[in-house]
Amino acid sequence: MSLTAFNQLQDVVVVGAGVIGLSAALSIQQRLPKSSIVSVVASEFPCPSPIQGHNTAETASADYASMWAGAHYRPIPYMPQSAYAEQNLSQHQQKFHDQLAQEKQLAVRTAKIMKDIAQQFPESGIQIVPAEEYLETPPQENLLLKTGDVYASGDDCFRVLDRTELTALNHKTASRHEDEIKWACSYETYVVNVHVYCGWLLHRFLSNGGKTITRNLGSLADAFTLGIAKNGSQTPLLVNCSGRNFDTDPATKIIRGQTVLVRNQYNKTITRQCADGTWSFLIPRPLNGGTIVGGTKEIGDDETHARPETRNKLLENATHYFPDFVKDMKDFDIVTDNVGRRPWREGGLRIVVEKPEDGRTVVHGYGAGGRGYELSWGAAEKICDLVLKCLQGEDEVMVKL
Ligand SMILES: Cc1cc2nc3c(=O)[nH]c(=O)nc-3n(C[C@H](O)[C@H](O)[C@H](O)COP(=O)(O)OP(=O)(O)OC[C@H]3O[C@@H](n4cnc5c(N)ncnc54)[C@H](O)[C@@H]3O)c2cc1C
Ligand SMILES: *[C@@H]1O[C@H](CO)[C@@H](O)[C@H](O)[C@H]1NC(C)=O
Ligand SMILES: *[C@@H]1O[C@H](CO)[C@@H](O)[C@H](O)[C@H]1NC(C)=O
Ligand SMILES: *[C@@H]1O[C@H](CO)[C@@H](O)[C@H](O)[C@H]1NC(C)=O
Ligand SMILES: *[C@@H]1O[C@H](CO)[C@@H](O)[C@H](O)[C@H]1NC(C)=O
Ligand SMILES: *[C@@H]1O[C@H](CO)[C@@H](O)[C@H](O)[C@H]1NC(C)=O
Repeated sequence: MSLTAFNQLQDVVVVGAGVIGLSAALSIQQRLPKSSIVSVVASEFPCPSPIQGHNTAETASADYASMWAGAHYRPIPYMPQSAYAEQNLSQHQQKFHDQLAQEKQLAVRTAKIMKDIAQQFPESGIQIVPAEEYLETPPQENLLLKTGDVYASGDDCFRVLDRTELTALNHKTASRHEDEIKWACSYETYVVNVHVYCGWLLHRFLSNGGKTITRNLGSLADAFTLGIAKNGSQTPLLVNCSGRNFDTDPATKIIRGQTVLVRNQYNKTITRQCADGTWSFLIPRPLNGGTIVGGTKEIGDDETHARPETRNKLLENATHYFPDFVKDMKDFDIVTDNVGRRPWREGGLRIVVEKPEDGRTVVHGYGAGGRGYELSWGAAEKICDLVLKCLQGEDEVMVKL
């Protein structure tokens, strides 16, 4: 692509320094001519892990979701379109499964890049690990899965556990009959030490000549008038990766998550979905980052402090479900509680171009909910494609809100 194809006076400002904003900024930077300035404006930037003695609660707000994630990649299976009629899916359910099918493409693409990063740059805080899932009440889309299917990625060694293995698992976790595991699988995935990884992304962005500005914006439009990254008289192209914090989109809402970081180090990620809709999971953090014991999903709950009774229940449940990790409550070496807000949005990630006013262009990339890490590179590439099209003046990509 030739340099002259771009409007050279237009620079790019990404609002947001979460995993989506940083991945998008890096992707844009790699594909724009060197003379363009890419900046990231955010009220909050990556901070170090509490396991290194820093208190994350003092350096990151609950609204900076990227600092509170586990994080692992746990695929969400969907019903294939060919089964909609037979399964009597409602319009609403069909829309949801269409969304999951699209997200799978982003997730598989992201997994490829994350695994490459893990292999080339172990210092990035990404590691490839074995994964297991135990479901007490498996939905139909799980029951349709077969060993060898592409679950997390093309080479994930996906396997559905057989009856004998289920019996052994149920015996091992001493389950009562009513919370028996009915379906389980194993595969290969990756886990993320979120503080190390976001710091690594930021470092790469800065090394490539990127700029950062710490600013709490009253509205997204304020970023047009910052006078930063502006070469000439034109306003920059804005990329809205603000999570859900501007809160002008009625489709977004808070899903509170509380987890516990312990120093005890596990070596695979396990998720148990209980019959009552609760979850119990372990996520090891690479580079001796400890293990995340989780976790809650509390819709519309805006409490930003950790609830001690929730911490106890999470740890107690983990001893019950994962006895080969920590058998007794007193053996947990607790580092800290985590409380974060997932930037959930009805319909999923919003990646579109908007022209709110003449001469101004916004590319949106927000609303990743509980999947920001696992969709990050796929989302960043889509955002980047739209940015390049806008800079090349391809007006047909514009949508009016
Ligand atoms: C408990 C928990 C567990 C999770 N586990 C996982 C997991 O295992 N796997 C996974 O993939 N995802 C997980 N997630 C979800 C993941 O954390 C989010 O999807 C992801 O962090 C969203 O990233 P983001 O960049 O969109 O937003 P954020 O990380 O929230 O970043 C928003 C950015 O925008 C900036 N900003 C916002 N408003 C303003 C303003 N007014 N002015 C200036 N800057 C502003 C902020 O400062 C920040 O830099 C989890 C989340 C939680 C809470
Ligand atoms: C600013 O734009 C001019 C072209 O108008 C270009 O020659 C110059 O390199 C740009 N400066 C930077 C720092 O990108
Ligand atoms: C779908 O609806 C039909 C007709 O009501 C019914 O016979 C069938 O059992 C339903 N299938 C499922 C999977 O619920
Ligand atoms: C930008 O993102 C936020 C989510 O943080 C959303 O509420 C808002 O509608 C988006 N657009 C503008 C113009 O702020
Ligand atoms: C994880 O630890 C267990 C127990 O120490 C060990 O048996 C197992 O081989 C380890 N697995 C991996 C993938 O390192
Ligand atoms: C612990 O597990 C029980 C049984 O599934 C569940 O009811 C409870 O809500 C769980 N606690 C937490 C904090 O997830």
